[in-house]
Amino acid sequence: MGKPLQIEAGTDTQPTAQVDLDSRLVIVANRLPVHRVKRKGRTRWETSPGGLVSALAPFVRQAEGAWVGWPGFAGGNNRAFNHDGIRNRIVRLEEQDLDRFYYGFSNATLWPLYHDAIRPPVFRRGWWRRYVEVNRRYAEATAKAMELGADGDLVWVHDYQLQLVPRMLRTLAPDNRIGFFLHIPFPPEEIFARLPWRTQVLEGLLGADVIGFQTSLGAQNFVRSVKRFTQARGTDQMLEFEGRSVRVGVFPISIDVQHFAETAATASAIERAEVLRSQLGPGEQPRKIILGVDRLDYTKGIDIRMRAFQELLHRGRKNKSMSVRDCVMCQVAVPTRSGVDEYTKLRRTVEEHVGRINGEYGEPGLAAIHYLHRNLEFEELVAFYLAADVMVVTPLRDGMNLVAKEYVASRLGNTGSLVLSEFAGAAHEFRSALLVNPYDIDGLASSMQTALTLPQQDIARRMSSLRRALKRNDVFDWAASFLRELDPGSSS
Ligand code: F6P
Repeated sequence: MGKPLQIEAGTDTQPTAQVDLDSRLVIVANRLPVHRVKRKGRTRWETSPGGLVSALAPFVRQAEGAWVGWPGFAGGNNRAFNHDGIRNRIVRLEEQDLDRFYYGFSNATLWPLYHDAIRPPVFRRGWWRRYVEVNRRYAEATAKAMELGADGDLVWVHDYQLQLVPRMLRTLAPDNRIGFFLHIPFPPEEIFARLPWRTQVLEGLLGADVIGFQTSLGAQNFVRSVKRFTQARGTDQMLEFEGRSVRVGVFPISIDVQHFAETAATASAIERAEVLRSQLGPGEQPRKIILGVDRLDYTKGIDIRMRAFQELLHRGRKNKSMSVRDCVMCQVAVPTRSGVDEYTKLRRTVEEHVGRINGEYGEPGLAAIHYLHRNLEFEELVAFYLAADVMVVTPLRDGMNLVAKEYVASRLGNTGSLVLSEFAGAAHEFRSALLVNPYDIDGLASSMQTALTLPQQDIARRMSSLRRALKRNDVFDWAASFLRELDPGSSS
């Protein structure tokens, strides 16, 4: 249908992300782009916050497409509905599906396996069977959402919960273009090899025409596993499987840079940041603020980061250089996946660290660590970014890590330092951050110390370089570059 779709990315180096799609677009993701809210006794749908939704929604709207996904609660009906210009196709999941497909196979088998097996992946045949069954439900709902016409629709499947969908869909709709993007890392071959259903998962993915990864490392790991465990052959960029070509590409995801920048410039965010600074760092000489914002997930390295802060205070006490009068850590931990045991255990560990470190290093009126276990509203989040002198993003393994990008997008005046794990996908683009090994408590403590004491011009030089890197690729560029690969008839 060839509708010109021009999205203003709004940055000075890369003003537009433009793609002219030739077909309708169907997005398939674990969650729908909406969630149900109850206000004044009435329930209604609201668009969900988050980068993926804001990036893809304009493309779906313009291409008169649809979004297939789970509405975020068990049961309910599966009637399709329109919201904010998008056709939503519900995949209904029951409690038992959530236990076995979502908490089980997706988040207690695949999630730890794909994150370097930081926690032992659990392999249960019953979970696998339910994963296959639920993936089939997504594939069938997608086939229903598609117009199986001459040109065919474009289908873009997202993430580790739905790796079997491309191949299932290929049998239901052989002539359509199917793309798949993995938002999390793809593990090294020797770790992936443990999965009892490794061949089925890889063949599921190979049903796609384009398979996208966050980093070149993920793409290489995938191709190595494919060559070992399937009949597919080819290069790191192009595989041949069952008489079809499958393109493998690297598409680093990003954020809506302009949205963060605009919010960071508002008087209300700036005022709120001032209030946070005076609350977190009271005293004659305001304390420097070290901020962490993460889902409370064991991949994020929150516990090790806290021990590194403890080490910093310990060193400071020994050589009288640093104390809670000089700096404070604020950790925002967003509740997540509480149905998985490892997440409950992590919460206990983190909260014990907070108690221990505050008990040992805090002073009356001066906590060493402020710990907030909650979700923040968007403007409040930006105010925290504005208040922070140092942002610590130290995952043990992460597909990309958008928090790092959000902090950089919010620092309009080139102030603030980013301490970033070398095992986050973002480290590939953010070479000017203070890069750390997140397992190294001593090294991490030293990097925090450096970040707290860096001369102003070094801070500005690093931040300005990070901001340039960010502006080269925002989330609209990411979506457009993937869709250009997926749609051979598109123009840009
Ligand atoms: O990073 C992978 C991811 O699935 C994101 O897409 C999502 O925002 C996050 O993890 C949380 O996932 P969920 O709450 O859907 O399990």
